[in-house]
Amino acid sequence: MWDYSEKVLELFYHPKNQGAMDPSSEPGVRVVVGEVGSITCGDALRLYLKVDEASERILAASFQTFGCTSAIASSSALTELITGLTLDEALRIDNRQIADYLGGLPPAKMHCSVMGQEALEAAIYSYRGLPLPDHTDDDSALVCSCFGVSEQKIRRLIRENHLTSAEEVTAYSKAGGGCGSCLAQIEDLIAAVLAETDATPSEDSRNSKGNSQNQTEPSPAAPSPLTTLQKIARIQAVLDEEVRPLLLADGGDVELYDLEGDQVWVRLKGSCTTCPSQQNTLRLLIETRLQEQVWPTLTVHAL
Ligand code: FES
Repeated sequence: MWDYSEKVLELFYHPKNQGAMDPSSEPGVRVVVGEVGSITCGDALRLYLKVDEASERILAASFQTFGCTSAIASSSALTELITGLTLDEALRIDNRQIADYLGGLPPAKMHCSVMGQEALEAAIYSYRGLPLPDHTDDDSALVCSCFGVSEQKIRRLIRENHLTSAEEVTAYSKAGGGCGSCLAQIEDLIAAVLAETDATPSEDSRNSKGNSQNQTEPSPAAPSPLTTLQKIARIQAVLDEEVRPLLLADGGDVELYDLEGDQVWVRLKGSCTTCPSQQNTLRLLIETRLQEQVWPTLTVHAL
């Protein structure tokens, strides 16, 4: 018996936004579909997005899933996470955010969150008429023939989720979970990706090389800490330039209230105070941007 979070069970028993979506007859609105998986592999997801063409904002999302408890809960969570986002914002959603929204997934079920991320990507690329990026399964570099998983996909999962064992790769992709004949190749890929990661010099280490010929102890490549004043100034700039214009367009707003260590306190205003997607605004719009552009361990809370 899997140890599921309450949120997983809630969305499994009462999934939100389940079902097909008809093509739109509204002018300026388009419905697109992203599909991943196959029923023969045990999981398949079809994701529908209703997109406003002028703003590229996702007006609604729904899904049809053939799969387990985690697959249904992950699909439902995904539709809630992306509704209201622009396509560019939605493309930044990764499988860890889906799992976090669910209060975590059992390690062996992480592949369900990956499936959601891939269906989303497929739908957005379809909307834009673009071919999917090269981590799409590709027969020329198939590693796991039991589950149709390519080398590119395994490399991406290792990199993005910091995987270090074949068991983890199986949990995230199913690769290796059938006959097992690909496990040795998966181990090789883990070693190769880790070696590439270790070999990638950081900005700091590159800077220190030119003037440290006599040093016997290499300095760690940690980023320089920001002072509280520097953090506040950068947070304020990101809010003013990137967050507030989006919220103001929908009748909302946000202001920085306080900063304590890495805890950022904001006050939501206007329509944001009653918006059902308030948590999405905090996590996906504000927190993600502050982590990317100010400091990676910042967390955001609303008063
Ligand atoms: S080829 Fe990967 S499990 Fe069989």
